[in-house]
Amino acid sequence: MKLTPEQLEQFDRDGYLFFPGLFTPEETRTLNEAVPELYSRREAYNVREKGKDAVRTNFAAHMYSKPFAKLARHPRMIGPVQELFGEELYMHQFKINGKMAFEGDVWQWHQDYGTWLNDDMMPTERAMNIAIFLDDVNGFNGPLMFIPGSHKKGVIEAKHDLTTTSYPLWTVDNELIGKLVERAGGKEGGIVSPTGPAGSMILFHSCLVHASGSNLSPWNRVSVYLSLCTVSNHIRRHKRPEYIAHRDFTPIATLPDDCLLKDYPVDLPWKDGLPASAMQTTSVPFDEMKKAA
Ligand code: SIN
Ligand code: MN
Repeated sequence: MKLTPEQLEQFDRDGYLFFPGLFTPEETRTLNEAVPELYSRREAYNVREKGKDAVRTNFAAHMYSKPFAKLARHPRMIGPVQELFGEELYMHQFKINGKMAFEGDVWQWHQDYGTWLNDDMMPTERAMNIAIFLDDVNGFNGPLMFIPGSHKKGVIEAKHDLTTTSYPLWTVDNELIGKLVERAGGKEGGIVSPTGPAGSMILFHSCLVHASGSNLSPWNRVSVYLSLCTVSNHIRRHKRPEYIAHRDFTPIATLPDDCLLKDYPVDLPWKDGLPASAMQTTSVPFDEMKKAA
């Protein structure tokens, strides 16, 4: 899939592109059907909502679930990002976010690159987020909210919020959000929410400021997020476990376009459980480790 000059211009201006219904219902079903069993596992890679059993985020399913391993190599997602950066990509993070009916909690206002810089020492913002809706997303089930053009601010000062939800996040304060929204058009487009059928895809800049509200509706809002990083921009620190911030910087080799509907061989290195190495962390950056060795 090649981006048009208009799409490239739109991405530069707004910081995101929306592709409604990019994957067919048949393709999306292969993924959605695998989610309940993955969420039922009592494993570190399933982070549950604060005080609840509902899964907030499942990490790294592409390492142990065949349908998601195929999705992680899908040319409809990898192709445009590779084209935008003109470089090969590796998988920095892979999430299936639940935002389950009645239970799904908020994601505070943040930039993803803020976390990747502060926690993982990713050198620059040459990384991209892709979201795929596995359920229909509407105005009621906690859609993503973006502040168009906010990626142009670069890295914004953030606070490490360890209390609001069950998942630590580097968040942007309300006063600055107010200013950014005003600058982006206030009530006239200062916040946008791409909504659409299951199978829709959003591609968004790693500095785009985003959030989502809670899901009080009776409809799940399961979405997959791929965070794709250019190989030369790989992280420099392993402060977070490997199932959250990956350490294999091998370029992604894509599968054919029909890979969700046909059988292709994929590697599933964690299919028998998380290796102990995937839980290990260190606060020392790589270059300092090398100096000490
Ligand atoms: C995220 O920002 O990483 C997730 C937001 C969401 O799932 O609503
Ligand atoms: Mn995010």
